[in-house]
Amino acid sequence: GKVGLVGVPFEKGQKKSGVAQAPDMIRAAGLVNELKSLGIDVKDFGNVEYEALDASVHNMTHLDHVAGCTEKLSQMVQRVFTEGRNVLTIGGDHSIGIGSIDGHVKTNRNVAILWIDAHADLNTNKTSESGNVHGMPVALLTSELADYWPYLPGMDWQQPMLSIRNVAYIGLRSVDRYERLVIEKFGITAFGMEDVERYGIHDVIHMALRKIDPDNNKSLHVSFDIDALDPLEAPSTGTPVRGGLSLREGIHAMEELFRTHRLNALDLVEVNPKIGDKYCVDLTISAAIHIIQAGFGYTRRGLKVPDGVTD
Ligand code: ARG
Ligand code: MN
Ligand code: MN
Ligand code: MN
Repeated sequence: GKVGLVGVPFEKGQKKSGVAQAPDMIRAAGLVNELKSLGIDVKDFGNVEYEALDASVHNMTHLDHVAGCTEKLSQMVQRVFTEGRNVLTIGGDHSIGIGSIDGHVKTNRNVAILWIDAHADLNTNKTSESGNVHGMPVALLTSELADYWPYLPGMDWQQPMLSIRNVAYIGLRSVDRYERLVIEKFGITAFGMEDVERYGIHDVIHMALRKIDPDNNKSLHVSFDIDALDPLEAPSTGTPVRGGLSLREGIHAMEELFRTHRLNALDLVEVNPKIGDKYCVDLTISAAIHIIQAGFGYTRRGLKVPDGVTD
């Protein structure tokens, strides 16, 4: 396969500094060579650069920067797809999902999203208690939520073209009160940690796919927030929540998704190298690289999925 790597050193979707350093630190830890050793043709498109747009909206911190950065990222993602590559986007905080998913949907309208995260990131500026845009991307991207937003200057380039029926959550364990109401109102596919315990990660992934991609024909996009993993295994992140996925469950999820042959885009976000000591940071970066490798075909059974294995 062919992959285009896009770094997004962006941290203004939340208030802790450090997330912007993650793309270069994950590169420095050897990401590109790890992917090349899987036989993948990797092209590094570098880091997204942007200028802030003119935008200011109540209870949306730094929307001017979020708008400028995500517009550029969307264009970059479209360019990578146009060159015939799958897209690996390294954040940055989770607000960048606005740009990566917009770019995917503009290239291929038939997209389904797996949002693997402790959080639902489904707030609007009216429901958010933090004002942080990294808690809002799913509400910005989906057509059913469009009526709940005021006019957003700077965001005219982005149209919510995706139905919430094509989004599944995996790993939830910190959902705000209004987010819970929205999940129930629209019947959003959502597997929390209790579902992972009850059914196991393998079945959870396949139940999610049956809901959001019943005909097995969608272009799949995984938006993987590193805080989906338990903080024992990925401590360096801004909004950790205990009781999360083990790294093994995260890897298993990505292995299953790779085997669909339709996992065309992966975001890896919210690694913050300024949180915790060197041991914590190294552990978190190595967890991120394991997740990415599994998404692009590394299997613990060996480099290739054996023929005849269909479970
Ligand atoms: N729900 C909280 C908020 O709206 C936390 C969101 C955390 N998001 C994330 N991408 N880590 O602020
Ligand atoms: Mn999260
Ligand atoms: Mn399995
Ligand atoms: Mn998130």
